[in-house]
Amino acid sequence: MRSIELKILLPFLFILVIAIATVGITSYVGSSRILHDLMSKFPASSSHINEDFVTQRLFDLQKYTILVAIIAILASCQLTIFFTYSIAMPIKKFVAACNELANGNFNIEVKYKSNDEIGILRDAFNTMAKKLKSYIDDVLRLKELNQKILNGINYGIVLFSNDHTVLFTNNTANKLFKSSPLLAEWVNNFIENYENTVIPPKGVIKWPPQESNFRYIEYEITPAGENYILCFSDITEEEKLKQNMEHINRLVFIGEMSAALAHEIRNPLQGIQACFQVLESSFPNEEDETKSELYRAIYREIDRINRIITNLLQFARPSDPIPEKVSFARIMNEIKPFITSLLKEKALKLQCSIPEYDELYIDPNHLKQILMNLITNAIRASKNGGSINISLSLTQDDEVILCIKDEGIGIPAQNLNKIFTPFFTTFPGGNGLGLCVVQSLTLKNRGRIWIESTENRGTSVYLAFPAYLHNHTFARR
Ligand SMILES: Nc1ncnc2c1ncn2[C@@H]1O[C@H](COP(=O)(O)OP(=O)(O)OP(=O)(O)O)[C@@H](O)[C@H]1O
Ligand SMILES: [Mg+2]
Repeated sequence: MRSIELKILLPFLFILVIAIATVGITSYVGSSRILHDLMSKFPASSSHINEDFVTQRLFDLQKYTILVAIIAILASCQLTIFFTYSIAMPIKKFVAACNELANGNFNIEVKYKSNDEIGILRDAFNTMAKKLKSYIDDVLRLKELNQKILNGINYGIVLFSNDHTVLFTNNTANKLFKSSPLLAEWVNNFIENYENTVIPPKGVIKWPPQESNFRYIEYEITPAGENYILCFSDITEEEKLKQNMEHINRLVFIGEMSAALAHEIRNPLQGIQACFQVLESSFPNEEDETKSELYRAIYREIDRINRIITNLLQFARPSDPIPEKVSFARIMNEIKPFITSLLKEKALKLQCSIPEYDELYIDPNHLKQILMNLITNAIRASKNGGSINISLSLTQDDEVILCIKDEGIGIPAQNLNKIFTPFFTTFPGGNGLGLCVVQSLTLKNRGRIWIESTENRGTSVYLAFPAYLHNHTFARR
């Protein structure tokens, strides 16, 4: 039997039926015996007793007894049902409330009017549900706070068990995994091998260790009961920045030293040049071919030293730009005479693709120096009969992208990060200052420079500068 009502109702009814049946049977048997006794003591002819009359009265008595019994049964049934429901109803309400609690609804309240023990039980239950709700709210708030802290941390956090199952990853870890498959691979490898290999509890490692496109990963591992917490972060950009800063500091130092040195050399050099001119004019035999060749050689070398010093000073102390509206085509026309003979020497073709809108907001002298250096590099790198392409395009961000592309020897991958270092050169007779000057002038003019190159295929140097806008200011970057 599943229903509480049936459990209460059936025994009640059973007892009732038995009680009433007992009363009925007893009254029936009793009255029959009374009749029998009367008949046997008093003969049928006795005038004192009328048998039919007595039989009739007893029969009536039995009838009324049975009738009363039936009425009593019906009334008792009604009452039993009523009481059964009044006991079962609150129990059913408690059962429903408990089910709600079990399903996680802690806002439950049992509503049942009663001042007896069931009323006390109701109050106790409602208080318990309220307290439970407040505890659960506290726990949920704490959980939410923990979640926020874990997800707000700039470190990736992975919780894993000693059977290598990942139990939890925070938002940063998920993001890092998505953005860097190398990192996901490292975490997997780390978890797989944690117990087999001796891994220091914290450190910075390169991943993958043997490859050139590795990432720097900073990590710390902490045991947490039977599990481990791995905190890690991809610090590749910070590491690169740190290395760049070191590089920049070195450059600043070299620049300052070189500038001071160049300044000191320039004055005696001008003195030498002046003295040499005086000496040259005092030589009687000017027609001597060997001597003339020597004079020219000395001039060339003095001129070369002068150029190096000018470049050095330009790199170390670049003049402040005076930007103005500059037409790129006009600047190209101005520098053409200087490069024509160099192009001819190698039978190179120079192709320019300049759109109608070619106006930049830049210092024109700086732009000339930048172009001269880059075109000279492209010519030096090109094989005889090749071609050099110069193109200009305007981006949606109000930037002008300039590209100088050659089909020359290209730059080996291992040299790509050295070409902006002062005095790094692979060109015969080069000084390794051209690109440094280009980079420094580009940055001064609020531009950007980047280089793409494939060995034996050629090099493309890209420059991005603010386009000239009608308000005569630097374009929005
Ligand atoms: N277009 C290019 N193709 C191939 N290599 C290049 C190119 N441009 C630059 N490089 C490499 O970068 C190095 C540095 O160039 P940079 O212009 O700074 O110095 P340089 O040309 O050697 O000497 P300088 O310009 O001072 O006379 C070059 O020596 C060369 O190895
Ligand atoms: Mg150069």
